[in-house]
This record gives sequence, C-alpha cells and structure tokens, in this order.
Amino acid sequence: MRTVIVFESMYGATEKVARAIADGMSGSVGAEVVNVDDAPADLTGVELLVVGGPTHVHGLSRAATRKSAAEQVDYPMRSRTGLREWLGSLGSLPHGLAFAAFDTRIDKPRLFTGAASLGAVKRLSRLGGRAVAPAESFFVGTDPVDAGPEPGELARAQAWGAALGASVRRTVS
Ligand SMILES: Cc1cc2nc3c(=O)[nH]c(=O)nc-3n(C[C@H](O)[C@H](O)[C@H](O)COP(=O)(O)O)c2cc1C
Repeated sequence: MRTVIVFESMYGATEKVARAIADGMSGSVGAEVVNVDDAPADLTGVELLVVGGPTHVHGLSRAATRKSAAEQVDYPMRSRTGLREWLGSLGSLPHGLAFAAFDTRIDKPRLFTGAASLGAVKRLSRLGGRAVAPAESFFVGTDPVDAGPEPGELARAQAWGAALGASVRRTVS
C-alpha cells in the first residue's frame, strides 16, 4: 500500500512530526516522507496521502510568512515552498484518495492560534479526496530558534500514525 507523507517545515518541527508519524505507521504500512519542495505532481498509485505543515497567521503558510519565518533565524529553512502552493498546483486527486492532515502550532486554544491542517483538509476535499481522520495539531514551543515539538508530542505523533495506518490498512486490504 503506497503511503506518502508530504510535509512543509521552516524550522524543522513539522518534519520531525512527519517522521514520527511515518515511524508509527511502520507497523502497518510503509510511508515515504517527502518535503513539499519535492512533492509529486501526480499522485496516481498513492493510496494514503498525509500532509502536514506549520500554522502561520492562523492557516497555511504564504510566501510572506515563510519570508518572515526565515528572517527570524540565521539557518536555512527546511522547505522553500508551501503546502498551499503545492495543493494549488494539483489538478485533481485520484478519485476518493484517502487523506489525513496535520499541522504544528502553538499550544493555545485553536480559536487563538488557527490551524493549518484545516486549510489543507478544505483543499484536499475540494480536489476529490476523502478524509479518513480528523485534522490533528501537534504543539511546538514559542521560541522560533528552538521551536521543536513540545515534550510528548513526537510520541503522540507516532501513536496518531500507528492508529491511522492500522485503520486504513483494515479498509484497503
Ligand atoms: C510568520 C509566522 C506566523 C505564525 N503564526 C502562527 C499562528 O497563527 N498560530 C500558531 O499557533 N503558531 C504560529 N506560528 C508558529 C508556527 O506554527 C511554528 O513556528 C511552527 O509550528 C514550527 O514548525 P516548523 O519548525 O516545521 O516550521 C507562526 C510562526 C511564524 C514564523
């Protein structure tokens, strides 16, 4: 079963979460983890698509927010482009493609933070995808220079991946 996890990440936290999700899935499905910069234009043959990105200004990043992120630190960003652009470039998805979306964001009520995953779900649904899990957020620290996942979040991501992989495996096989 071909599973692809496409992540967007500025400081590296979302990439770590994506890799933890893949790790969790490894008991049931093998997943390819792909930076959005290198994400495929054609998803034919993919049976489960997982996408995740950082929450910027309550939603998916934009060129201006990525520029602002880059200006806050003196190391290179993990992704040059964003999920918004990649999803916008996809003509359509293979009919009924199973998908799930996650984001990283600050650990405050969603009303105050927004959540990038909701924008991804909206776009993937419009493209003909079928959500197989509710959008999920994983929390990061607030210091951009050291904004790694909060303690326990990678374990939670691993568990989320394990549950997702197992449930999709049951449906597909
Ligand atoms: C320009 C910018 C805007 C942000 N806006 C929000 C926001 O609206 N809500 C939130 O919870 N976090 C916000 N954050 C924090 C990011 O969600 C955090 O940097 C990200 O989850 C870290 O993931 P990454 O290391 O993969 O880039 C913002 C960060 C930046 C740089």
